[in-house]
Amino acid sequence: MTLKNDLILKALSGKPVPRAPVWMMRQAGRYLPEYLKLKDKYDFFTRIETPELACEITLQPIKAIEPDAAIIFSDILVVPKAMGMKVYMVEGKGPILPETINNNGDIQNLQVIDSTNPLKHVYKAITLTKRELNGKVPLIGFAGGPFTLLCYMLEGKSSKTFDKSKSFCFSQPELAHQLLEKITESTIAHLKFQVSAGADCIQLFDSWSGLLSREDFRIYALPYLSKIALALSPFCPVILFPKGSWYALAEISQTTAAAVGVDWCTPPELARKFLGDDITIQGSLDPSKLLLAPEKIKDETKQMLLSFGKHRYIANLGHGILPNTPVDNVKSFVDTVKEYTY
Ligand code: CP3
Repeated sequence: MTLKNDLILKALSGKPVPRAPVWMMRQAGRYLPEYLKLKDKYDFFTRIETPELACEITLQPIKAIEPDAAIIFSDILVVPKAMGMKVYMVEGKGPILPETINNNGDIQNLQVIDSTNPLKHVYKAITLTKRELNGKVPLIGFAGGPFTLLCYMLEGKSSKTFDKSKSFCFSQPELAHQLLEKITESTIAHLKFQVSAGADCIQLFDSWSGLLSREDFRIYALPYLSKIALALSPFCPVILFPKGSWYALAEISQTTAAAVGVDWCTPPELARKFLGDDITIQGSLDPSKLLLAPEKIKDETKQMLLSFGKHRYIANLGHGILPNTPVDNVKSFVDTVKEYTY
């Protein structure tokens, strides 16, 4: 099916665009009243594992905010779940994985996602959403970066430092690499299935890679992001989002990724200098700025657009939308990008 709006795909391949395309990480979710209504009725994994619900939630921001892309409603933790781990989402606490990975036996027991994989609901949701979108905007598929998934699998919950996970890597590097390999293989399979089901491009969220030093990023994050990008790039454009790892942008530019997401701590001119001109940059407004008055949001957004320039750029936040963001403020962000001319 031909897309009516392919601005994002054009920006990803370096083709000229009349204006910057815009979408927001975590655009489907907690700040939307229509999402909260469904949240009252169905628990987290029911929302994710019921294709009709996942499709409805994916389309909610498309109707309410009209960004230039949809992102399928799912979670990065569906991969550890499909590999055999128990995963719960606890209100007020976040994800809980009660049986963490502790030793070689635990790693050997993990399944690798293959054609018999239990994530068929994600692919069904993608196919259904593509049909419902009817070419309005492209659909983004996604997965977590292997290092970020390792963090949840070893720690069992969110953490500010993920020190247990990092010390496991540093003290037992061979086991850590075995685990990262298994996650990477599963992630490649999961993403290929998403593309076959209709995803137009994919993003890897490596939310915790910035907890690593440059040297450790080279060891525990980059090789796996690079391997996934290489495996997927023949099929669709790949966006890497290694949050906080500004120090590694030059090396990341050597992968086959079409785009790299940056956060608000990365100065735009530094991002362009490290990444070069042949890759698309995505980002990077601080999501807390969306808590300002709409007029102020306009100014901040214009400043962001000016700093990045028009060449190979996708407007986004530097991390996910905060749950307490007013919908009108989100609209102000998106509309400002759409109205801006360079
Ligand atoms: O972007 C989208 O709109 C698509 C859906 C999406 C969700 N999670 C739904 C979700 C995406 C892309 C994610 C990615 C994700 N999940 C990441 C990477 C991005 C990031 O924010 O760093 C991470 C680290 C997770 C793991 C996860 N899922 C955590 C830590 C939590 C709890 C804290 C939180 O953000 O709420 C979740 C829950 C989650 N995933 C919610 C949503 C809408 C909120 C819970 C709910 O609605 O019940």
